[in-house]
Amino acid sequence: MPNNQNKVVIITGASSGIGEATAKELASKGAKLVLAARREDRLMKLQEEIRNHGGQAIYKVTDVTSSEQMEELAEYALKEFGQIDVLVNNAGVMPHSFLYKKKIDDWNKMIDVNIKGVLYGIAAVLPSMRERKSGHIINLSSVAGHFVGAGSTVYAGTKFAVRAISEGLRKEEYGNNIRSTIISPGAVKSELTQSITDIDLKPGIDKLYEDLAIDAESIARAIAYAIEQPSDVAINEMIIRPTHQER
Ligand SMILES: NC(=O)c1ccc[n+]([C@@H]2O[C@H](COP(=O)([O-])OP(=O)(O)OC[C@H]3O[C@@H](n4cnc5c(N)ncnc54)[C@H](OP(=O)(O)O)[C@@H]3O)[C@@H](O)[C@H]2O)c1
Repeated sequence: MPNNQNKVVIITGASSGIGEATAKELASKGAKLVLAARREDRLMKLQEEIRNHGGQAIYKVTDVTSSEQMEELAEYALKEFGQIDVLVNNAGVMPHSFLYKKKIDDWNKMIDVNIKGVLYGIAAVLPSMRERKSGHIINLSSVAGHFVGAGSTVYAGTKFAVRAISEGLRKEEYGNNIRSTIISPGAVKSELTQSITDIDLKPGIDKLYEDLAIDAESIARAIAYAIEQPSDVAINEMIIRPTHQER
């Protein structure tokens, strides 16, 4: 995968699931990883695992809901590796609930992590990418960024927003040779459903994931594919579902 070799890639939400799988996939192909999330023990372990396999990785504990911490993350990547080729805005939360249950803290968390986190990431890396006239920003949306289901209203709202932001970014920055990719997974095995506290929804979602969910590596491979394209080719959007998932 020649186009991944030596690319500097920041991954948010690298401490589990899709972010962790993506870090391993890209590291095995020669990328230099900057791992970010809140759980330091997980990041340290992943960094060690990647290094033990001959890969390159550093980490920085980062909360994506803080624009300052996202700026510091980008500065750290620039200081250690000299440039940022790719940002994977992957951190996300999905505490589904029905609107009438008024779980306002959960709504705010989703808006802060899934929307503001993505925007803060974009803001942190754009200056150096614009200066170099080169870069790639990959944002994790979801099948829920295409279809709204009862109980996933706010989450879907945040993932529709991610698609709107990614398309706006594409229109604003293609002239600066900055690529934008939307990745929309269906059900994927990870820790994502653990945050659901709505007892009317959780059993059904757990069952769906048990029956259908595909490995996080499936999404990691799609992300690697988008990154490895020559710089004049932009993979702008991909939906990756389990074969047996209807919606
Ligand atoms: N799994 C699916 O079925 C599925 C389907 C469609 C889309 N997605 C999207 O894929 C992305 C990755 O999710 P996943 O499935 O891999 O779930 P996951 O295993 O729960 O991973 C979520 C990651 O986000 C990080 N995170 C959460 N809040 C954060 C914050 N405030 N600051 C920094 N990092 C934060 C978590 O790390 P810390 O807790 O250590 O901070 C964790 O590494 C999400 O955007 C999700 O919406 C997943």
